[in-house]
Amino acid sequence: RRTPVARQEDGSYVVSTYRELTDLLHDPHLSSDVRNLSRPMPQGQGDATPAFINMDPPEHDRLRRMAMRHFGPPHTPGLVTGVEPALTSAVGSLIDDFAGKEQIDIVDDFAYPFPVSVICHLLGVPREDEPRFRVWVNDLINSIDYDPKTDPKEKLEKGVQARKDLRQYLGGLLEQRHDRPGDDLLSRMANDDGPDGRMADDDIVSTANLLLIAGHETTVNLITNGMLTLLRHPDVLQRLRDEPGLVVPLVEELLRYEPPVHIIPWRAAYSDITVADTVIPKGSQIMLMLASGSRDQNRFHDPDRFDPDRRDNQHLGFGSGIHLCFGGPLARREAQIALGELVRRLDRPRLVADPPPYRRSPVLRGPIHLHVE
Ligand code: HEM
Repeated sequence: RRTPVARQEDGSYVVSTYRELTDLLHDPHLSSDVRNLSRPMPQGQGDATPAFINMDPPEHDRLRRMAMRHFGPPHTPGLVTGVEPALTSAVGSLIDDFAGKEQIDIVDDFAYPFPVSVICHLLGVPREDEPRFRVWVNDLINSIDYDPKTDPKEKLEKGVQARKDLRQYLGGLLEQRHDRPGDDLLSRMANDDGPDGRMADDDIVSTANLLLIAGHETTVNLITNGMLTLLRHPDVLQRLRDEPGLVVPLVEELLRYEPPVHIIPWRAAYSDITVADTVIPKGSQIMLMLASGSRDQNRFHDPDRFDPDRRDNQHLGFGSGIHLCFGGPLARREAQIALGELVRRLDRPRLVADPPPYRRSPVLRGPIHLHVE
């Protein structure tokens, strides 16, 4: 509230208010290219072949367009439009498996396996290979956590190995799709001579990698934060049972109130930038505290209240500007179906521990387990 723009001891800047964040997210003088950062990215995150989330225009725009052509809404019908039955059936069978269990873990038994199966389905990864994907994604995400109980060196090594294995696997799959294309994202990207020309194989692998990483843990956290918030607000949970359509504004409010992505840590200033009377010098690293912006009292009335009836809910849960989340429409639908079905099918669910244990991540926020009986 008092310091919308704060300089940290290491010379980087933290920005935390809605207006300043949206201005910066739309400012062409801000770079997403991690090579411009004053501090190196944690090892295992900075990729040798970066994906478009870590690029600036015009390269970012070209690659995003090429992938978006096939992925889907809001710009094109694409693959995501046809995925709805697969989402409903994946959710249904995961909930069927709760039968006979006295206690379930919303993370391990539900929120974790669900998005990875969806993205594997879209990419065209054979079902039998999904468990390998889960291990790689897990090792990658863990490698950037702060957990003091685990050895950081071992975690980093595992992350670097997982990144290599994943790239190698996707490269092999891509080769097969060049020869025998199917109706999946890899095949479509590999065999498209659209207005922007052909995508290089390295770029296709980086894009597939990005979709998997950007779209997995975030969605896990949205579903888990959603269930936790509902269990803490029994009146809203009951309303959702009676009024299933409420799930649409409810997921929007979750993205504002309990967003999975708290901070975007990778922006660098291409030139001096003035924000809220502070000059951020050229070359500085800027961290954008999206979660704080979405609770800014100058933008949202009573911001610390969870209110699914909130109007004009322009939260920053998916960022804003040219890097606005590419998978937003998919993530929304996944969370709507998941939460709608959990509430419909669980009989008087009760939290076992509140608060649950949380992931110690600098960027993502969500419980590592959420036991419900
Ligand atoms: C970008 C959040 C799900 C793919 C972003 C950004 C945020 C975000 C905040 C902006 C990053 C930046 O400006 O640097 C979320 C949340 C999700 C979610 C909260 C779930 C609840 C997904 C899914 C996919 C996806 C399901 C794809 C399958 C991407 C990609 C970008 C991105 C490719 C980079 C876009 C670009 O650089 O142009 N996401 N995301 N996300 N997201 Fe998501």
